[in-house]
Amino acid sequence: MILLTGGAGYIGSHVAVALLDAGLDVVVLDNLSHSNSASLERVQSICGRPVHFRQADIRDEEAVYDVLTTYGVTAVIHLAGLKAVGESNEQPLSYYDNNVIGSMRLLSAMQRSGVRTIVFSSSATVYGAPSYLPLDESHSLAPTNPYGRTKLFVEEILRDVHAAGGDWRICILRYFNPVGAHESGLIGEDPLGVPNNLMPFVAQVAVGRRDKLTVWGSDYPTPDGTGVRDFIHVCDLAEGHLGALRQLSEPGILTLNLGTGEGSSVLQVIRTFEAVSGCRVPYEIGERRTGDVAVCYADPSLAKSVMGWTSTRSLLQMCADHCRWQSMNPAGYAGA
Ligand code: UD1
Repeated sequence: MILLTGGAGYIGSHVAVALLDAGLDVVVLDNLSHSNSASLERVQSICGRPVHFRQADIRDEEAVYDVLTTYGVTAVIHLAGLKAVGESNEQPLSYYDNNVIGSMRLLSAMQRSGVRTIVFSSSATVYGAPSYLPLDESHSLAPTNPYGRTKLFVEEILRDVHAAGGDWRICILRYFNPVGAHESGLIGEDPLGVPNNLMPFVAQVAVGRRDKLTVWGSDYPTPDGTGVRDFIHVCDLAEGHLGALRQLSEPGILTLNLGTGEGSSVLQVIRTFEAVSGCRVPYEIGERRTGDVAVCYADPSLAKSVMGWTSTRSLLQMCADHCRWQSMNPAGYAGA
């Protein structure tokens, strides 16, 4: 039985599908602060198999311990956490509490219950401004905001836990920019309030939920002047978690980038989305967003050599699948 913390969220629901499709059993622990349990009903209908669910917070160590022992959990995929950069600047304590203290309580419950296998959802944000590209796992770590620092600090905690011995099996996955949705259109990204990230904003403009997109800067040193990112299909990302679990048969610690290795610009995303959706995505050019870098993309070769994982889905498919999800669920899960 695999425990998914934050399993009702965008990435978690797609990881749940990948695990169930591979024949593994899944229990989700989620406080539903930024997610909806309807996603898990959809996961069950996609896979035709049950997902166990406990509504609880990772900071509640007893609840986590109870889930670990009651369900006979053998490994944890830890996705629960807050992830809005701007909010983390305004409420750093809430980010350290949820992300760092929450991870501490989870690890402590794992220690007590003898579960020693964990895949941690980290982010390319831990690298900070790239000093070279593509970003490989040995790049220096210098996040530029509290959210990024919470990810780095949990990574450091995991490195210390590994160094202390005790047969821990740890995999840190550094995500680039997850987008897209399951091809069924039943599960997808459903951000609370105004989306911070590009693709959900584009999708909401395309379906008419928002008037227009602001492109944050068109004077970057990139081919079309807009920011370039390594967008990765969430189903490719989810499969990376399955690969990571399979690698953790021996004690050790692995740190892997999950990206495609290719950058796409903001304007390329808009044009591709318009082409696959047949919808217009009106936009205006705004100022650069504080903290944004011009270009960021991964060197994903370590994930390939270590676990045979590569992304297979194109930007076109990312946009088509994101669009299908948004069109079938214009108001997200709440509208269902
Ligand atoms: C952002 C976070 C990063 C986090 C990641 C996933 C910042 C500075 N970085 O990454 O730490 O790990 O989300 O949650 O917030 N864009 C627009 N208009 C929009 C939204 C975005 O032009 O309305 C542009 C951005 O300027 C950027 C690109 O689209 O060039 C991608 O932005 P976004 O989706 O927010 O991802 P990141 O900035 O890479």
